[in-house]
Amino acid sequence: MRERIAILVCWLTLGLVVGLSWLFALRHNPVAPPPAPSVSVAAPGPEARPPGTNEAGARLFREQGCTSCHALGGNGNPRYPLDGVGARLKPDELRAWITGTGPAAGTLSAMVVRRKARYLELSDADLAALVAWLGEARAPAP
Ligand code: HEC
Repeated sequence: MRERIAILVCWLTLGLVVGLSWLFALRHNPVAPPPAPSVSVAAPGPEARPPGTNEAGARLFREQGCTSCHALGGNGNPRYPLDGVGARLKPDELRAWITGTGPAAGTLSAMVVRRKARYLELSDADLAALVAWLGEARAPAP
């Protein structure tokens, strides 16, 4: 008798688990409309950017690997946060820091200057987008 009850409890538990999984899957996978094209896992989502409208700048910031050294809005390498940088630096200064040129070069290590030198090859439009985007980063770290 006890064995039968134990088996019954086993099956009930199994049913409960399957049922809950099913409910969970149903809630998290809406049947319609079809799921949006999946976003690359490595790229931080739209919440990575500070309030602002400059999509190109936000995209470049991710694509150009700035996040391997810098964080903005809590995304990226927290070692060198750029939160609020737009309130501190003028566009010219931002450009110099991005490319590791001018007065900025003096404080950066040779390795970082070499790495940032590749950003000199960005088009003027791309650099301007990055500068504009960082210029909008005025909020303090989250
Ligand atoms: C190899 C690491 C590295 C990469 C990649 C890198 N940076 Fe930097 N960057 C630094 C370091 C180090 C500093 C100096 C930070 C400090 O002293 O607080 C700096 C400084 C800056 C500053 C000035 C920060 C301040 O608080 O005054 C800006 C703006 C900046 N970088 C933007 C960028 C952007 C935009 C990119 C991508 C296009 C980028 N960086 C890529 C290492 C990097």
